[in-house]
Amino acid sequence: MSNEAFDDRYELREFAPGTDDKGAPNAETEAWMQAVGLGFHETHPGEEAAGRMVEHFVEDGNTWLGAYVRRPAPGSVDETWPAGTFAWFRKPLSWGDGSSIDTQAISAVTVRPTERRRGILRRMMTHALERGVAEGYAVASLTASEGTIYRRFGFGSAIRERAVSVRRDRALPFLAPTSGVVSVVTPEWLAGGPGRAVFDRFDARTPGSMVRNAGTWPVALGLRTQDGEKAKDVRAAVHRPDGSDEVDGYVTWRVKENRDGDTVLEVVDLVYATDEAYLSLWEFLLSVDLNDVVKYNRSRLDDPIVAALGDNRAYDVDHEEDHVWLRVLDVEAVLASRPYAVDGSLTLAVTDALGFASGTYRLDVQEARGSVTKVADDVDVAGSDIQLDVADLGALLLGSVSPTTLASAGLVRAVDPAAPALLRTMLTPPRTPHGITYF
Ligand SMILES: CC(C)(COP(=O)(O)OP(=O)(O)OC[C@H]1O[C@@H](n2cnc3c(N)ncnc32)[C@H](O)[C@@H]1OP(=O)(O)O)[C@@H](O)C(=O)NCCC(=O)NCCS
Repeated sequence: MSNEAFDDRYELREFAPGTDDKGAPNAETEAWMQAVGLGFHETHPGEEAAGRMVEHFVEDGNTWLGAYVRRPAPGSVDETWPAGTFAWFRKPLSWGDGSSIDTQAISAVTVRPTERRRGILRRMMTHALERGVAEGYAVASLTASEGTIYRRFGFGSAIRERAVSVRRDRALPFLAPTSGVVSVVTPEWLAGGPGRAVFDRFDARTPGSMVRNAGTWPVALGLRTQDGEKAKDVRAAVHRPDGSDEVDGYVTWRVKENRDGDTVLEVVDLVYATDEAYLSLWEFLLSVDLNDVVKYNRSRLDDPIVAALGDNRAYDVDHEEDHVWLRVLDVEAVLASRPYAVDGSLTLAVTDALGFASGTYRLDVQEARGSVTKVADDVDVAGSDIQLDVADLGALLLGSVSPTTLASAGLVRAVDPAAPALLRTMLTPPRTPHGITYF
């Protein structure tokens, strides 16, 4: 669809969500939320829960975008609801050494089935990324419902996640002793401060961690369900190191029966500021009686639990998929922001169909910090060590995806194989990346 035809059919409107004087979503906010609910097949929250959701959106600093049909069919929801929805807000991404970078976090992307494939997503995305650049973001982030939508817009899958099951009967005892003390607490006690304090420590030390949406917390801590209703079935426990009063890890969980008749302990949230806390909380979960299997949907690749288990075959991967996608908007700023494991110099030629990041860049790392110079506005293949698309640069950023793997996949190109190998070593993260934030 040409720009003119698009503008003739739709009006793009940007606004901030808000409530009316009774605390309920205002009309524009309500209509937009209805459209998102339709897109994601969600039940519409009650008035009180909807008001709380809007408070959280405001707290997160949301900007909302709607694509409105100019001439809606009589009686259709298009009279008030946007046919396309899109949101963004600031979300810091941790490099795992205590530093972080602000990302333009993108969320709530939907297009009404009746208006599909008319370019609404493309228009909303380009509008949002241009606004992101104007707002000073060097990188955008999102989590995707499908794996094939976002590469064309320059996003690369930077971190993956696993849903795993650990069978209790074969898991314990662990091969190495655990330490510290685990105590059962109430979700209310956890929500009184210790939960978020542990997350802050986890976030600072974990590459790939992202600050959570305000609305995530009541669910993660076991106070509310996804629908915003009061949660009645979530339990909580915390870990403290030996001889210390300070909580350094927590877990929230619920127990359910699955279709095979197994009793399943489902982890709601597991947050650890130390490796000892992670191990001890797993040992605790595996020792809870009247349950057959512990399920955890947010496991990292290279999970130390596999090595710790008495029988490593107690651990099964039920599913693995992409988690956070990153889109570089400013190569110089993003590469200068992250820490490096070793020194070195490389020239990268970056292609970008949307133009934000195209060019040839020299990366010089000295004493673990990088400085970046744009050496050419165009993609200078002959004058570079490595050529790659901006989506693959996004995929590499956290150090979870290896440049040598992407070279084997034909996505990173280099005449000298030592160049991707050097880049891989330079990008080695301080710890295994682990993302437990959804947005
Ligand atoms: C995915 C979705 C947002 C696409 O919206 P759309 O307005 O139809 O997309 P556009 O017309 O702007 O298409 C943009 C490009 O993406 C492609 N595309 C769109 N949806 C796609 C999909 N599901 N899978 C693969 N490619 C897709 C189009 O072919 C087009 O490619 P091109 O520009 O290179 O020719 C829409 O299908 C949707 O709302 N899906 C349900 C909710 C959802 O999955 N949201 C994503 C949340 S992360």
